[in-house]
Amino acid sequence: MIKQSYWGISALISTLLIAACAEQTSEPDFETPVEELMGQGEAMVENLCVECHAIGADDASAHPAAPPLRDLSKRLTLEDLRAPLLEGIVTRHPDMPEWAFEPHHVDALLYYLEQLQSE
Ligand code: HEC
Repeated sequence: MIKQSYWGISALISTLLIAACAEQTSEPDFETPVEELMGQGEAMVENLCVECHAIGADDASAHPAAPPLRDLSKRLTLEDLRAPLLEGIVTRHPDMPEWAFEPHHVDALLYYLEQLQSE
């Protein structure tokens, strides 16, 4: 019994490790050129986020409660934003608008945010 649950846990840990490694790739899994993703992502951030979030390397957020986008990965795993961004439920807070983005827009936004991270 003890032995069995040990194996259960180690199988679980290996699964998690594999998932963690798989998540580390920031490359999109389709053939959109990187420059295009960067351009689209930058345009989205400049049009939709700058009103509240700092979008540069050392600017301050216009909305005092909004974290600079360069610091998002200190608070969460960017890839975890994918589902909420697609489904339009990214907000836990009243001030931030709700969006449901197209998959290619989510790819662009996440790719751009990834490049933006301060560490
Ligand atoms: C009208 C203001 C406003 C706009 C526009 C806005 N946000 Fe926010 N956002 C906020 C505020 C305020 C918070 C922090 C709320 C909190 O701490 O709960 C926040 C938090 C976040 C968080 C962190 C959520 C978390 O759980 O820590 C993410 C991610 C985020 N915004 C992404 C974006 C992106 C991407 C855009 C542009 C596409 C954007 N926001 C546009 C106001 C805004």
